[in-house]
Amino acid sequence: MEETSTTTEAVAASTSGKITVGIDLGTCRTAIMSDRGAKLLARSVVGYPKDIISEKMVGKGPIFGDEAMEKRNFLDLCYPLADGVIREASERDYKAAYELLGHLVELAKKGENVEVCGIIGVPARASIMNKELLLTIAEKFMSKALVVSEPFMVAYQLGNLTNCIVIDIGAGTVDICGMKGTVPIADDQVTFLKGGDYIDERLCQSIIRHYPGVQMTNSVACSIKEKFASVDGSKKALVTLRHEGKPMEFDVTADVNAVCESIVPDICEHIENLIQKFDPADQEATLKNIVLAGGGSRISGLAEMIAEHLAEYGEIKVTAVQDPEFVGCAGALKLATEIPEDMWSQIGVMFDPES
Ligand SMILES: Nc1ncnc2c1ncn2[C@@H]1O[C@H](COP(=O)(O)OP(=O)(O)OP(=O)(O)O)[C@@H](O)[C@H]1O
Ligand SMILES: [Mg+2]
Repeated sequence: MEETSTTTEAVAASTSGKITVGIDLGTCRTAIMSDRGAKLLARSVVGYPKDIISEKMVGKGPIFGDEAMEKRNFLDLCYPLADGVIREASERDYKAAYELLGHLVELAKKGENVEVCGIIGVPARASIMNKELLLTIAEKFMSKALVVSEPFMVAYQLGNLTNCIVIDIGAGTVDICGMKGTVPIADDQVTFLKGGDYIDERLCQSIIRHYPGVQMTNSVACSIKEKFASVDGSKKALVTLRHEGKPMEFDVTADVNAVCESIVPDICEHIENLIQKFDPADQEATLKNIVLAGGGSRISGLAEMIAEHLAEYGEIKVTAVQDPEFVGCAGALKLATEIPEDMWSQIGVMFDPES
């Protein structure tokens, strides 16, 4: 978990008894920022000791984020946000999501006894049930909370609110959103499940097929992907893997490239569908303003490949954001501080004890 220093505005705000936060609740990582300068990123995982012996070693728990990963031999790990949403039927996911959110809100409070209100981002097409479930959890820690779609937060942070398409490639979901100068409606957004987790799974299978006898897991595939992901062959992926127990070097460049490339047709198909919903007079400008965010936007050559696939639509410009881990969270905080609270209900689903 990382933390950055307090900003000037943050100090100014510290005289009030309330803090405002922006939260990007992700399958892989959850980011939280506050108007008092808190900026934290944690893996979205919660660990509970497996038995009495484990409890002796690591304490009662729960243990969060990277620390939980380090102590995983002692813990049952729960990833409460599979596919970017809380599984509605699972009591365990609900509890873990509750503890994770509570933990992060506490850290953002930096030990102060203050009221917390804020905006939480979820996948673009998360069900209303899920938004409400999340708000039920948020209500335990926050005096006022609003749920908005993740790509909308990215667009807001970039100030790119019209004639723009935002593509947020996360771990669980890819969220695509067309911005037309207003709060996006359901019809302007799509969510599908070919994000980073899908790539990891496919890469794991591809390497096993290519090199029989090699020992692979999705998590090893994920580390390879994070180091070498590209669709243009620009990164040569030479990796040491265990083959029947012995370490050996393998060239998995072709596997990494092919699997990363496999998400491009779906992304392009959704862009093609969304673009037709823009006013024809705006389509040219929108196609020159496609933005990639989320961890998957770090795949080298992806922006160029998407542009090439759409070449028959004319001039296409696709750019990747600078800070994919925090851009959505920063947008949520920006929204929460710039839009008066009494108007929040106009931009998403909210919990408000006064209404
Ligand atoms: N350099 C990289 N190349 C490709 N993928 C990467 C890279 N770095 C991180 N990722 C992947 O990005 C994903 C995490 O991105 P992000 O933090 O945006 O997801 P998330 O917000 O937790 O998920 P979601 O939005 O689906 O709930 C993971 O699958 C991770 O492996
Ligand atoms: Mg995300």
